[in-house]
Amino acid sequence: AVKRTPFIAGNWKMNLDHLQSIAFVQKLAWSLADARHDFADAEVAVFPPFTDLRSVQTLVSADSLPIGYGAQDLSAHDSGAYTGEISGAFLSQLDCGYVIIGHSERRTLHGETDADVNAKIKAAHRHGLVPVVCVGETAEDLEAHGPSAVPVAQLRAALDGVDGSKGLVVAYEPVWAIGSGQAATPAQAEQVAVALRALLVELVGDEVAQGTRVLYGGSVKAANIASFLREPNVDGALVGGASLDIDEFSSIVRFKK
Ligand code: G3P
Repeated sequence: AVKRTPFIAGNWKMNLDHLQSIAFVQKLAWSLADARHDFADAEVAVFPPFTDLRSVQTLVSADSLPIGYGAQDLSAHDSGAYTGEISGAFLSQLDCGYVIIGHSERRTLHGETDADVNAKIKAAHRHGLVPVVCVGETAEDLEAHGPSAVPVAQLRAALDGVDGSKGLVVAYEPVWAIGSGQAATPAQAEQVAVALRALLVELVGDEVAQGTRVLYGGSVKAANIASFLREPNVDGALVGGASLDIDEFSSIVRFKK
């Protein structure tokens, strides 16, 4: 079987300004260094607001910290008259490795469609960024269509015409579990992760599909991270609220299966 390095990603959403981001990343680095003997060997990344990225870049590059980072969104366009937008070119100049695309808050609060998500994934790839593509169903979807139908349909639309070999992370975030304190069960997360991976096999081929990390997101915390990571098809977590608390996030990245 292919070994996929677990990926623990902190989505800060609209929290922590650029000064707070410096303090947080510094503390996270200390925590990772302290824990080296029992560190779970996961890849760790943070997703701060755009205005923090330059500060995070400076800190990470100056000290060669083992912490990745990326943005929470990007424009589908590369440059031009798009007031308020941020292009993938700018993000790659700041050495971002990743960009979150299609988070449910973007879809619901900003009207992002599957077509927008698809265009943004292609924009990320044009600039050498690995998209962290979010999919997930609402409680009503779950009731009406069962567990995997909506996430699978969203991922199918998202990846239309996308070259999977350019890098991809998928995050399954059931909308009902986000910020609710009511996480999915590990078995529920695994069931959808299996369905998403089967779709990846169809769309991008077996080799890329087996190497692609599928994360779970939605009320992940130190107390439940290990239970998700024990599932064979759940390769990490996209953490919201618990990624803002340095002690909690440090415990999450040091999970023990
Ligand atoms: O992107 C992560 C997120 O939506 C989950 O948020 O606060 O439930 O961990 P939270």
